[in-house]
Amino acid sequence: MRRYVIAGNWKMNFTPSEATAFINEVKPLVEGKNNCDIIFCAPFVTIGAAMEAAKGSNIKIGAQNVHFEEKGAFTGEISAKMLKEIGVEYVIIGHSERRQYFGETDHTVNLRTKAALAAGLKVLLCLGEVKEERLAGITNEVVAMQTKLDLAGISAEELKNVIIAYEPVWAIGTGLTATPEQADETCGAIRDVVASLYGREAAEGLIIQYGGSMNEKNASELLSKANVDGGLIGGASLVAEKFNAIVDAAQ
Ligand code: PGA
Repeated sequence: MRRYVIAGNWKMNFTPSEATAFINEVKPLVEGKNNCDIIFCAPFVTIGAAMEAAKGSNIKIGAQNVHFEEKGAFTGEISAKMLKEIGVEYVIIGHSERRQYFGETDHTVNLRTKAALAAGLKVLLCLGEVKEERLAGITNEVVAMQTKLDLAGISAEELKNVIIAYEPVWAIGTGLTATPEQADETCGAIRDVVASLYGREAAEGLIIQYGGSMNEKNASELLSKANVDGGLIGGASLVAEKFNAIVDAAQ
């Protein structure tokens, strides 16, 4: 059976000292809640402090991006090997903010995903449609295309280290949430595409999260859906009680 994965995406929030204080606040709240994996994806410079604070707890710390080259003249970038060496286990790739503001394409998302997996990282691969695509009724086509392009060349064995985060772009940071039915349907559509690529068994084992204004109020209903195996949470991951309530919804 699939296990819930509740991941916070801190985005460009929390300095090292702020992250330490936050982890110290959230740690006792989520202690012993082992029915889900709990991850916070931190800004690069904050990862070390967050890891130190999370030591010995059920909280894991991840990164928010990774470059596809091993090393070299790529000013401002961070390699998978660098993340591995400091003990990072998870990395977000393909977040819609990276796609919208930093020119990420399915091609670069695919390259980053391959590099991360080759280095032994687990990937939270984000995809989802924009508002116009949902309104035009082509959501399933869009997520199918993204799934195929983003996973191109990734083996069935490597897929075991991939989590897909279905994040409708119109729901991110907007307070608008996909209905539980929409989330379930689109996560199911993604699962069907994965089944067409890797077989039904692999697809049934794949964790697919929903992300986009998930909060303490709507989490239980979203997580109750058969195809929704967790959440990628932005805003509500910055408030300990809200995040804890989402972890509770996954128990
Ligand atoms: P949000 O962000 O929960 O603030 O909508 C989700 C995300 O961007 O991963």
